[in-house]
Amino acid sequence: MPVSLALKDLTRRYVKDGEEFTAVGGVNLAVEPGEFLTFLGPSGCGKTTTLRMVAGFETPSSGTIEVGGRDVTRVPANERNMGFVFQNYALFPHMRIFDNVAYGLRIRGETKDLEKKVRDALAMVGLEKAEHRYPNQLSGGEQQRVALARVLILRPSVLLMDEPLSNLDAKLRLHMRTEIRRIQQELEITCLYVTHDQKEALTMSDRIMVMNHGHIEQIGTPMHLYEDPATPFVADFIGQANLIRGKLAREEAGYGDFTVEGRTVRARMGRQNPPKVGEDALLVIRPENLRIAAEGDANRVPVTVVNRLFEGDRISYEVVLPGHEKEKPIEMSVPFLPGTGLIETGTGLEASFIPEAGVIIRP
Ligand SMILES: Nc1ncnc2c1ncn2[C@@H]1O[C@H](COP(=O)(O)OP(=O)(O)OP(=O)(O)O)[C@@H](O)[C@H]1O
Ligand SMILES: [Mg+2]
Repeated sequence: MPVSLALKDLTRRYVKDGEEFTAVGGVNLAVEPGEFLTFLGPSGCGKTTTLRMVAGFETPSSGTIEVGGRDVTRVPANERNMGFVFQNYALFPHMRIFDNVAYGLRIRGETKDLEKKVRDALAMVGLEKAEHRYPNQLSGGEQQRVALARVLILRPSVLLMDEPLSNLDAKLRLHMRTEIRRIQQELEITCLYVTHDQKEALTMSDRIMVMNHGHIEQIGTPMHLYEDPATPFVADFIGQANLIRGKLAREEAGYGDFTVEGRTVRARMGRQNPPKVGEDALLVIRPENLRIAAEGDANRVPVTVVNRLFEGDRISYEVVLPGHEKEKPIEMSVPFLPGTGLIETGTGLEASFIPEAGVIIRP
């Protein structure tokens, strides 16, 4: 049976350069049994520290960790029944693959049916033929699969993975995403996964916890975070986004009137963290959701093209609003239709978007 996992006010402080510093500050999280949940965030935001506290390699300054309703905060790492897969596979170089995978069970003295268990674990990761080889005779992806088999053979109730794919080349990384997800679902194992690759997080996860400076910015399904970012940080970190500063003039039935430079456009109200009417607000609009206004389009704003990049299938235009020439340009990504040419820099045009595609949030 898969188990639940709960982090309550989990905090880790360090003394850094003589000053106290909070690496992880009050993380609250409830993970469902069998769920695949990813910690996503920039370097140094506290992903590894959080995972290491869950594993028991790091002692929290305060807060608790519960597995299946049991408080394990003071339980030693080797008694938590968790498996940890690291970025660098950490296999024993002098041991054959068979012995690497068998290692944990031998240490525990559980040698009954050992051969069958090792072979089953290797089969699960598609490496049944590799048992006689040494780690340096395997590719990076194969070594990482051995690392996974070595952990899975112990039947952990929680699987923890810290950037397990970051040492692999791009193609292998894509393949391993699917493999890890397949195995995790087959075994119905509760999984915490760390990455700073947003594509990896979006494609693999049931839910994502976005972290920044040791705290949670937002937790949600990949689509939820993409469609309804709660903060400018999440909007910008998940996918690409233009953040346009203006005011919320009116709000009705989940939509708002957003004014910028005397123009009013309609967009969805953010559900997580909406601004109040009359206050400063940010309009989040993704480059691929902006288009060059056609006849009859509502929601239009005049802009001037300041740069353009031909990317083959698409053209990326950088445009500015009148009076915003000094600010970061707005990116528009439009499909390229052969024969239509490119718009010259300096050209004025109108950009438009459908109200559903824009989200109004608090700055
Ligand atoms: N043992 C330690 N002593 C002091 N500071 C630490 C220690 N371990 C981590 N930190 C600090 O805590 C912060 C969070 O580190 P952590 O390793 O959790 O980040 P991360 O999100 O995993 O980053 P990355 O994506 O680079 O792996 C960093 O500022 C780091 O310097
Ligand atoms: Mg890390």
